[in-house]
Amino acid sequence: MKMEKIENAEIHVDNRKLACSVYRGTEGERAIDIRKLRKETGLITYDPGFVNTGSCASKVTFIDGEKGILRYRGYDVADLAEKCEFVEVAYLLIHGSLPNAEQKAHYSRLLNEHSMIHEDMKEFFSHYPEHSHPMAILSAMVVSLSSFYPELNDGDKEDLAMTVTRMISKLRTIAAFSYKKSIGEPAVYPRHDLRYCENFLNMMFSSPVRKEPIDPVMTEALNKLLIIHADHEQNCSASVVRSVGSAGANLYASISAGICALWGPLHGGANQHVIEMLEEIYQEDGDVDKLIERAKNPRSPFRLMGFGHRVYKSYDPRAKIAKELCKKVIAATNKNDPLLDIALELEEKALADPYFQERNLYPNVDFYTGLTYRELGIPTNMFTVMFAIGRLPGWIAQWLEMKKDPDSRISRPRQIYTGPNARRVVPINERK
Ligand code: SDX
Repeated sequence: MKMEKIENAEIHVDNRKLACSVYRGTEGERAIDIRKLRKETGLITYDPGFVNTGSCASKVTFIDGEKGILRYRGYDVADLAEKCEFVEVAYLLIHGSLPNAEQKAHYSRLLNEHSMIHEDMKEFFSHYPEHSHPMAILSAMVVSLSSFYPELNDGDKEDLAMTVTRMISKLRTIAAFSYKKSIGEPAVYPRHDLRYCENFLNMMFSSPVRKEPIDPVMTEALNKLLIIHADHEQNCSASVVRSVGSAGANLYASISAGICALWGPLHGGANQHVIEMLEEIYQEDGDVDKLIERAKNPRSPFRLMGFGHRVYKSYDPRAKIAKELCKKVIAATNKNDPLLDIALELEEKALADPYFQERNLYPNVDFYTGLTYRELGIPTNMFTVMFAIGRLPGWIAQWLEMKKDPDSRISRPRQIYTGPNARRVVPINERK
């Protein structure tokens, strides 16, 4: 992945000077190339959480955290959410350009063709305990796909394209089947006549005794929700997908690892915790101020879920879209959700509080999305599964880019050792 070299920097250490190249990306961000650092100076960098460390050059997604900008392959996320369907955005992320009408129709047919899972896989669901979290099931089922489609050969372009299509289509089916299992209803198969989002909602909510058509307001809302989740450059789970793939593991294994990383409450799991936090306020005394004080307490591990971001030090553009979408869906269903009122009050008070202002803490993508999933009838413990369905094309795009990047190497960070110096083993009968 070629970058533009603009100048040199010098690192002075032990009376020596190390000349390092400085590169610039297409949006002006710059990076110092330290690939020679340890070999030439014996030093490494120390950067827990990789706050200041670029792991790769990438053409997939651009984020400007200060200005609240998010673009997939150069297209603004709000523009895509307004004018495209999720399938088009998935195609864009993976292929690098938006599909024309013929390419979109072909892609939709392929996704439909590969939307079923092997009948033997359906049996897996009956062996999970009732209370199993759907993210655990999702990750296990995805890595199991490699057993049912062993011909995966990363080197073969056709094979890889088929694997990518299978994954995007089957993840949705696995998610719907796990939901049906959790409520004791029979699985509803994907239909050839329904498009991606409508098919998913039909698999989730239709049954032998419920045949209402899917409300187009819900289908449109799901399309937008999946689009705003589709990629986010080198976030925790995308870095895990790249890292696992860098070891030569196949795409199914890499995505399965990404699902596990996304499950964390500080990452994609936050959307579930936001609703649980809002419900706690609602069921207790509606006291938003008490919750804000708890979040500000340095001695408390509690964080205001759905607030703050490693990159956005301004309003997350996806939160803006999710907030408007939430209001639109609630208005369309004529149902007033008291949790939305609490969320709006919480946002207003937090944004007015110096603690949050000084730290540039704003609502992130997870603050309003759960409220909309609720309106779609999706249960809280499936919110992160929805995040994974949306993020899948982004993970795949990042993985494919890593595989093709000549600069890519197996991920293996260094460390500063602070343990005991060398010591000899004392025979057990002499140990105190
Ligand atoms: C996602 O990376 C991505 O792109 C992720 C994501 C994606 O699309 O892939 O955008 C999806 O994961 C969104 C984030 C969802 N997580 C949450 O909503 C959980 C709550 N947020 C925080 O845990 C936190 O903001 C993080 C994890 C999101 C970011 O953590 P950082 O960048 O490591 O920030 P930090 O913990 O160093 O915080 C800096 C300061 C600290 O205070 P001081 O020590 O300086 O006094 O801000 C405080 C933190 O205590 N802080 C918060 C807070 N978030 C940060 N205080 C209260 N509530 C919060 N939510």
